[in-house]
Amino acid sequence: MRRAVPDVFLYGSSTRNDKWSFMRTALRQCPSVRKVALLTAGLALLLGAGGSFVAAGEAGLRTLQTQYRRPAGIPYPKEDQFSRAKYELGRILFFDPILSGAKVRSCSSCHNPGLSWADGQPRAIGEDQKPLSSGMRSPTLLNVAWTPKLGWDGHFQDLESVAIGPITSPENMNLPEQTMLERLSAIPGYASAFDAAFGKGGITTPKVEEALATFERSIMSRGAPFDRWVMGDPNAISAAAKRGFALFNGKAGCAACHSGWAFTDASFHDIGVAKDDDVGRGRLFPSSVKLKYAFKTPTLRDVARRGPYMHDGSLPTLADVIDLYNRGGVDRPSRDPEIHQLGLLPEDKADLIAFLQTLSGQRDQVEVPVFPR
Ligand code: HEC
Ligand code: HEC
Repeated sequence: MRRAVPDVFLYGSSTRNDKWSFMRTALRQCPSVRKVALLTAGLALLLGAGGSFVAAGEAGLRTLQTQYRRPAGIPYPKEDQFSRAKYELGRILFFDPILSGAKVRSCSSCHNPGLSWADGQPRAIGEDQKPLSSGMRSPTLLNVAWTPKLGWDGHFQDLESVAIGPITSPENMNLPEQTMLERLSAIPGYASAFDAAFGKGGITTPKVEEALATFERSIMSRGAPFDRWVMGDPNAISAAAKRGFALFNGKAGCAACHSGWAFTDASFHDIGVAKDDDVGRGRLFPSSVKLKYAFKTPTLRDVARRGPYMHDGSLPTLADVIDLYNRGGVDRPSRDPEIHQLGLLPEDKADLIAFLQTLSGQRDQVEVPVFPR
């Protein structure tokens, strides 16, 4: 089956900030101790007095729907607008092992659509079958079009600039840039695909980057039971999941960071995973106390399919993740103010997991392309 190209609406900036914006503005202006109370109050407001989901008023539900409505289209930057030819070329390059030195690995080896666009491994494995020395786990590429800063520590500014790094890195795909250009240029099918996407003028690294980025922007989470519930189907998720959603926004405080339709604030926090010299964003801001051990808040879309968890793959299951939060992470100066002991009961933990499971959407049907040779 050919994968449908998503509807394309062009708008300059991300819609992420629309979600929860009124709540976030309020939160930013008040001390952290009041945040949970405010979130709980906000949730009660959204769901109607009494907080009962069953009894939630029409108006409350409509407000809730707006907070979680998925964006209408994909934000393509002005400098790298969508075109069908660029998307097709990017899709081929993404899956083609010709971009690895020994022709054994492709982007899709680590960002595999069948594994929720990650690889199911605790640490990413490079061309020589050894884990990368960074010790990082392969992140999902779901919804990357909306991610303002890329990489676990946010050191990449845009999708275009992430593309060439893994190709040329000796321990990753191990293909020198010049060899990449020669290899691709020697194949008439590639030469004509680049011409179709960018006009005549030969194959260059920026063209490879733009094509890959255009394909990656199409990688989106699709209709999950949670979305159907938000859009008004009261039976789309279980009672346990509804209680979990209330905890997520209330007592457990998860929505302070996992906010909006993609369940991320796209920011960086120490939640107590890293230690020693694995300082995350602290490497870029050595004088910052709060950014030591801070990593990017990952999307929770499809999260139940994507263990092991965290930037270093150190937590095998969702139950382990919730236990970490329940313990309050690690008490140290960099700990995020939102992280503290939660006092969750066993049934609370089960409800939170039931809710997280409702975020798994339709699986992507991606046709592996025919590679030009
Ligand atoms: C060996 C496994 C591996 C391969 C192959 C690989 N990646 Fe990755 N990818 C990773 C890891 C690990 C990270 C996290 C890196 C970091 O945070 O510094 C990552 C991060 C990314 C990100 C940032 C995602 C985010 O949410 O921050 C993008 C985009 C990406 N890779 C695209 C690609 C593309 C395009 C290719 C092919 C040219 C590719 N990757 C090949 C392992 C891999
Ligand atoms: C202070 C911000 C913050 C709060 C509050 C928070 N998270 Fe997170 N979450 C993060 C960050 C940052 C990471 C990634 C940390 C890392 O990789 O080292 C993360 C990772 C996760 C992961 C792993 C996802 C993956 O792909 O690896 C899950 C699941 C998760 N959080 C669920 C929750 C739940 C459930 C709660 C509430 C109990 C919660 N989070 C509260 C910031 C937060």
